Amino acid sequence: MGKTVGFVPTMGALHEGHAALVRAARARSGFVVVSIFVNPTQFGPKEDFAKYPRMLESDRKLCGDAGADLIFAPSAEEMYPTGSVTFVDVAKLGDHLCGATRPGHFRGVCTVVLKLFNIVQPNLAHFGAKDYQQARLISQMVRDLNVPLEVCVEPTVREPDGLALSSRNRYLSDEDRAVAPCIQQALQAVRTRAIAGEVDVARLESALIAELSAISGARVDYARIVDAETLQPFARLDRLAVVAVAVFLGTTRLIDNVTIPS
Ligand code: PAJ
Repeated sequence: MGKTVGFVPTMGALHEGHAALVRAARARSGFVVVSIFVNPTQFGPKEDFAKYPRMLESDRKLCGDAGADLIFAPSAEEMYPTGSVTFVDVAKLGDHLCGATRPGHFRGVCTVVLKLFNIVQPNLAHFGAKDYQQARLISQMVRDLNVPLEVCVEPTVREPDGLALSSRNRYLSDEDRAVAPCIQQALQAVRTRAIAGEVDVARLESALIAELSAISGARVDYARIVDAETLQPFARLDRLAVVAVAVFLGTTRLIDNVTIPS
């Protein structure tokens, strides 16, 4: 019997959130692979593909320290040879949230992740709950296409002040960094309101949008409460829900979410 292979796909510019995924993989597998690939097909034409941070040397160190055995860092030509025309589309789950404001994004994510799964052939693949919709789509793809591996979703790692770690946090100005934890606070406030008995989703969403809009320098991309399983909107809080937001601070787009128990 060979070793169990654990896999952590990333786009590099690694931080403690990625390290936690590598450690989670290490805890369950005998051999841990991390991929580092800034995937062009998941960026829109006006997004930050060209300026996405690339820092392979420090990424290598973080992977080694967290317990990775192998780094796979292919070129764009290796991943998408001329003439590639096949893409993976997971219907419905991509209709709302990031799928609505970033057309084509999840098609690119699911395609590259399935390609990476086929190359690495892991037994377990680890994703972060910070990208809730992404993890949900990939779990669905794995189920629908009979991909022979287990998807593990790991908790979001945060700064001490609550800001979710992200490779994009480095773009924030000092002013924007100072207010960024208000995003998580607004999410917690909705959760508290819901747990205290508010069941009207429209009212909860309005309060959330008002709170996020009041953050200095913020522009709300979306702020939605959706069914945690189907990612579809609904009217009354009678099931497990996810509150998911995307907020621009300056030109930096940050996402975060919390779940609300039924
Ligand atoms: P990237 O943004 O580099 O994230 C790689 C993995 O790290 C994802 O599973 C993401 O959810 C997780 N992650 C990011 N920040 C985290 C945090 N603060 N706490 C816990 N986990 C965190 O997501 C992608 O890359 C790409 O879309 C990819 C799946 C690699 C496909 O290209």
